[in-house]
Amino acid sequence: MRVAISGTPGTGKTTLSQLVAEKLDWHYCDLNSYLTQLTDTLPYDWDRSSVIVPTHTLQAVADQLPAHSIIIDGHLSHQIPALDLVCVLRTAPSELHKRLLQKGWSSQKIQENVNAEEVDVILIEACEMNNSVCEINTTDTGSDAVSNTIRDIIAKPSQRSRYPPGTIDWLA
Ligand SMILES: Nc1ncnc2c1ncn2[C@@H]1O[C@H](COP(=O)(O)OP(=O)(O)OP(=O)(O)O)[C@@H](O)[C@H]1O
Ligand SMILES: [Mg+2]
Repeated sequence: MRVAISGTPGTGKTTLSQLVAEKLDWHYCDLNSYLTQLTDTLPYDWDRSSVIVPTHTLQAVADQLPAHSIIIDGHLSHQIPALDLVCVLRTAPSELHKRLLQKGWSSQKIQENVNAEEVDVILIEACEMNNSVCEINTTDTGSDAVSNTIRDIIAKPSQRSRYPPGTIDWLA
């Protein structure tokens, strides 16, 4: 099974991907580092939420990664072909703003990503590209609890209907 953990920068992808992979004893892939190693000519601004990686690059990654028991971490991870499950992490814009400030990001980059989170950019893209997408709120829930939720969703497909995409509306 290949599981992508995606979401706007700062929603907790790396924290959760590493926790889940460790607890399940699965492979962990940091997609941004992987893409950078694959080719240093990708013309990307990595911290933007809306970047489309060329299909041949995504296919090359898909061909090289382990076929089973892998968690793929990154805000582009939902673009990898033939995923079994995508978990899109969501964080309320005010909390996301704080987390990105702590990362030391510029106000322009923070605003760009907070705006993308507000209008569900990554969730929409993930749903356009995948059949099985869950939406998980990390705003007020600690990493251990979110990690338990993700492991539950992985282990029991029946749990996925509890986290349907489109539940969260930050602009409501
Ligand atoms: N469930 C959570 N609740 C509260 N804070 C969290 C949670 N998960 C992660 N964080 C905090 O949010 C910050 C960002 O987490 P992390 O670096 O894992 O996000 P990311 O989505 O991987 O970001 P990036 O896309 O920039 O790599 C960290 O300070 C982390 O401790
Ligand atoms: Mg990260």
